[in-house]
Amino acid sequence: MDFKLQATDKSSGARAGLITTDHGVIETPIFMPVGTAGTVKAVHQHELTDDINAQIILGNTYHLYLRPGTDILKAAGGLHKFNGWEKPILTDSGGFQVFSLSANRKLKEEGAYFRSHIDGSKHLFTPENVVDIQRVIGADIMMALDECPSGTADYDYAKKSLGLTLRWLQRGWDRYKSTEGLYGHSQAYFPIVQGCTYPDLRRESAKFVADLGADGNAIGGLAVGEPAEVMYDMIEVVNDILPVDKPRYLMGVGTPANILEAIERGVDMMDCVMPTRNGRNGMLFTAHGIMNMRNKKWADDFSPLQEDGPSYVDRFYSKAYVRHLFASQEILGMQIASIHNLAFYLWLVKEARRHILAGDFKPWKDEMVKRVTQRL
Ligand code: GUN
Repeated sequence: MDFKLQATDKSSGARAGLITTDHGVIETPIFMPVGTAGTVKAVHQHELTDDINAQIILGNTYHLYLRPGTDILKAAGGLHKFNGWEKPILTDSGGFQVFSLSANRKLKEEGAYFRSHIDGSKHLFTPENVVDIQRVIGADIMMALDECPSGTADYDYAKKSLGLTLRWLQRGWDRYKSTEGLYGHSQAYFPIVQGCTYPDLRRESAKFVADLGADGNAIGGLAVGEPAEVMYDMIEVVNDILPVDKPRYLMGVGTPANILEAIERGVDMMDCVMPTRNGRNGMLFTAHGIMNMRNKKWADDFSPLQEDGPSYVDRFYSKAYVRHLFASQEILGMQIASIHNLAFYLWLVKEARRHILAGDFKPWKDEMVKRVTQRL
């Protein structure tokens, strides 16, 4: 994997770059749609490519390991072959999902013990076996196993947790360096900065991560209950230390405004379930503000979903029709909302990139943050 920094904004930390993988080039800053179980929920692969302009999607080690399992993924020839997505894939390591989804999970020095949320069966994730599983999945970018404490964790807990995450990181890195991919394409391995909301722990973590010399670096443990301003401060603390010539990936963030603030602070890659999950609940993000499609006010509004929107669904369907689909619990409503929201998120980062390259990112971003946070 290769990263080329093309431009840095003169009045902020915002950057434009190119990530080259064996499955294609990614223009940064980029938003990555979440495809937890090997599918971006309710969206076809051709819609991801043609209507949404997705350049890379996520998968999740936790879900894919439990179902369909590594035997099927290996027999398929990896996730790209299995789901027909030919562009880059990034997989999260599963640690975060062990904590949010599974029952009876227990952290030990050797790894994370957990029970499947599907059938209650017992499993162990170690820093080593999540590398092995991600090798079988065939992700272009694999993530290290980490612990992500809550945003309100106290200092003692945060310090202990970071110690474990850093020891796990070294073990995972050693496994990564001593193994190879199964399918002939190269796979990068991103370490994850943790440290909760404590600047000294964040700095310690970022230094350790920077010294590894990985192809890219991630910032985790944010948007987990701390105020947004604290999250922005932590991004600044960490990005002061992470290398400038490697992509920086902010995990699990966030709203359109969060994304613009992160880009301003030098983040290159982001993912979040918000556009798809909130979309399935009828929440549409647009360049003019947020619309709740369950609201009765749209019942007789026959104007297009978003006249100037980036996707064909924005002009093809009316607000009244989409409101009707949500009121009637029709699946098509969820599909339209998912395509709309993802196309909007991808448009937003593309515009950010255009303004970074043009040298006027900051005024554009300040205006856009005001617009995207309005309620329509
Ligand atoms: N997704 C969102 N936040 C995190 C995090 O801190 N760690 C991991 N592994 N995944 C995440």
